[in-house]
Amino acid sequence: MVTKDQLLIFLKKKRNTWISGEFVSNELSVSRAAIWKHIHSLKQEGYDIASSPKKGYRLGRDSERLLPKEIREGLDTKIFGKKDIAYFPEIDSTNTKARELADGGAAEGTVVVAEKQMAGRGRRGRSWLSPAGDGIYASLLLRPAMSPSVAPRITLMTAVAIAEALLSLVRIDLKIKWPNDILVNGRKLAGILTEISADMDTVNYIVVGLGVNVNTPPGHFSEELRNQATSIYIETGERLSRSRLTRAWLQQFEKYYEMFKKSDFAPIMHRWKQLSGFIGQKIMVDVVGQKHVGEVADIDEDGVLILKDDQGKYRRIFSGDIIPLQA
Ligand code: BTN
Repeated sequence: MVTKDQLLIFLKKKRNTWISGEFVSNELSVSRAAIWKHIHSLKQEGYDIASSPKKGYRLGRDSERLLPKEIREGLDTKIFGKKDIAYFPEIDSTNTKARELADGGAAEGTVVVAEKQMAGRGRRGRSWLSPAGDGIYASLLLRPAMSPSVAPRITLMTAVAIAEALLSLVRIDLKIKWPNDILVNGRKLAGILTEISADMDTVNYIVVGLGVNVNTPPGHFSEELRNQATSIYIETGERLSRSRLTRAWLQQFEKYYEMFKKSDFAPIMHRWKQLSGFIGQKIMVDVVGQKHVGEVADIDEDGVLILKDDQGKYRRIFSGDIIPLQA
């Protein structure tokens, strides 16, 4: 391991306490000048390290960044995050950036992450609130050699992957809301925006964007959003490392993507249904202003909602906003 990484491990173990330059240089068997150089470089990478001629160095408690190095620590994937993780302290939208990179020939598995988005985009032309350091704002680049009709499956798969990642790290009672929201206690914790570039019969690329409210305190949501949105911090009272959650998501995503590429979609759909508890629910769905009421009969493998109305007639709904109704 290079000394800079060893130094970082050292600082992390003693997070928020001062360690003298002399102590570190003895432990790592390098000169104090070399330590200073590595500290300087870590600061440039975005780590919040205080230095004092008398006390030495101290890594700040809240200095966690969504840095590629942090995400890769122990990352057990072959594609996602293994090659390129493009990191931005600030960007308009990670999806827009990922599309730019894709148009420039970037490889499948490229990940784009940002601490803050200035113009985070949601579904149906909405915006996605993306304050600095609170959430995960990340996009993945996929190049499946398949027909464009697979795109909705990728969205369902992404929802299952982030749900599994969340359940592996925190105790929350989450639900997937069709097509791709993650809700806790009826409030939105995460959303997915899938964008596709394709010819008539082949995918050129797909960008999957994920936004998760991780450490957002209630005060960071507007009055209007406060009833509709939540964060892991609000639900559990504890902060969660965003890089840890991103890593868990990449691992889950890759696992499901491998299944998807082998056309083994049934287990993914099965898990989606389990996590949504959606089948049999009475709902109203708003399809660009047209409202339909009925019971959810099924979700097919392309993510199409099959709604059964009071007359027993079935309707296929491709996209829309759901309002659950009391039974
Ligand atoms: C939605 O629920 O409406 C989808 C929200 C998706 C937000 C994410 S944040 C990272 C990526 N970049 C964007 O501009 N949007 C997605």
